[in-house]
Amino acid sequence: MESAEERRPRRPAGLGVLALCSSLLLNVLFLAHYSFLSPSQLLGDGGSCGLSWALQAAKEAEALAAADCSGHGQRGPAVPGALLEADAAASAVLVPGWHRLSYATTDGLYQSVELENHIRRLHRAVGNAVVDDKTLVFGAGSTRLINALVHALSPDADADASPPARVVATVPYYPPYRTQTAMFDGREYRWEGTTASWANASRNSSDDGRFVEFVTSPNNPDALLRTPVLRGSAVIADHAYYWPHFTHIAAPADEDVMLFTMSKPSGHAGSRLGWALVRDEKVAKRAYEYVQNSIMGASRDTQLRMLGIVKVMLANLHGKEDIFGLGHDVMRSRWRG
Ligand SMILES: Cc1ncc(COP(=O)(O)O)c(C=O)c1O
Repeated sequence: MESAEERRPRRPAGLGVLALCSSLLLNVLFLAHYSFLSPSQLLGDGGSCGLSWALQAAKEAEALAAADCSGHGQRGPAVPGALLEADAAASAVLVPGWHRLSYATTDGLYQSVELENHIRRLHRAVGNAVVDDKTLVFGAGSTRLINALVHALSPDADADASPPARVVATVPYYPPYRTQTAMFDGREYRWEGTTASWANASRNSSDDGRFVEFVTSPNNPDALLRTPVLRGSAVIADHAYYWPHFTHIAAPADEDVMLFTMSKPSGHAGSRLGWALVRDEKVAKRAYEYVQNSIMGASRDTQLRMLGIVKVMLANLHGKEDIFGLGHDVMRSRWRG
């Protein structure tokens, strides 16, 4: 019997070779044509790839970025412009004007879980803070969190008859500790000056109200690594500068209440994102409620933008374009003047 193979009509060998040659020729023509065409000719719609408003927005953003005169608002202790320019696509964010209108996400959350996770990853990778047993509270810069934490660590005036907490710091200190506490001075806490005037008193009397002590390490303005001065005080450890381009990271910070900000590691001071890492859930809750009551959560636009920045930082960590390596070079050149 004839097999199926044998039943197939036989093509003359010459025809097969011709078909192969024409196929090859077509491929070569195709490749040549498209290699010599610009991307916009390729897309046939002026290069928009079907994009309309996004293309227009992107063109404007690129034109702005190309203009040299403004310096793009770059100022600050460690501007990592080089890294973010090199990773321009990854660090850019384009948001439609009609998105993110609401205060919260569709899940009713005010803080991006994704951003929280990436901030935790950044701390772990850098090794500058223990994050696993802490709650994150976002604020519009860590400046917004100064008073949130003072409130959270002070006796609840409605439920507790204790005297107001005494808020103190060691000189020289970051002025908003005093100005904010004095401005919002109320039933719960009071600015009580410098630790020096209480160093002895606190050893003798503790029934006159608890101390809330700001400990800034490294300190602004003298960069000293500091520890609490008053024994038994509730400490707000401000670690705004505890990043490897500013100081040696000897060990991960692990105080009960810590403050960090994006203003220093990435230089995005104007975006206003800070976070507190808080061990005690009740303290974290009070600080979180303070943020809700005062500003209804940190800006969602900022959270989205900072997520992109943290991702770029993580992707380049320990590599040639490590943001902290670049930041360290900037700092060193500034010191050498
Ligand atoms: C010690 C210290 N803490 C906090 C901040 C404020 O940071 P943010 O920009 O997040 O409000 C600064 C800013 O200079 C600072 O020096």
